[in-house]
Amino acid sequence: ADLFVGEEIFNANCAACHTGGQNSVQLEKTLDKAALEQYLTGGFNIEAIETQVENGKGAMPAWGGRLSEEEIQGVAAYVFKQADGNLW
Ligand code: HEM
Repeated sequence: ADLFVGEEIFNANCAACHTGGQNSVQLEKTLDKAALEQYLTGGFNIEAIETQVENGKGAMPAWGGRLSEEEIQGVAAYVFKQADGNLW
């Protein structure tokens, strides 16, 4: 997956609610590694992030119809890398 494209996708589509890896809608459900380990369905891995982006969850909208498979893979890889490296 292309991490540079992933970052652009993130800034254009996700930062509205997840600026700096935070969550402005459900404050505790950040994109930090510890929060992903606790809350993300399927645990802390790229596939689980892809699934949530594709289908949405709770108040988070689904992106399956709006982003391509490649874009979803790119943004998921970007989120994983940011969380894993504590880079937010
Ligand atoms: C949760 C990614 C766009 C609202 C999450 C989580 C991820 C994620 C990985 C899991 C966080 C956790 O469980 O700690 C993304 C990506 C987006 C995006 C990559 C862009 C493609 C948005 C937008 C909104 C939003 C635009 C607001 C309209 C939420 C909410 C949750 C959440 C409310 C909590 C869902 C729940 O567990 O009930 N997001 N998000 N997200 N996101 Fe997003």
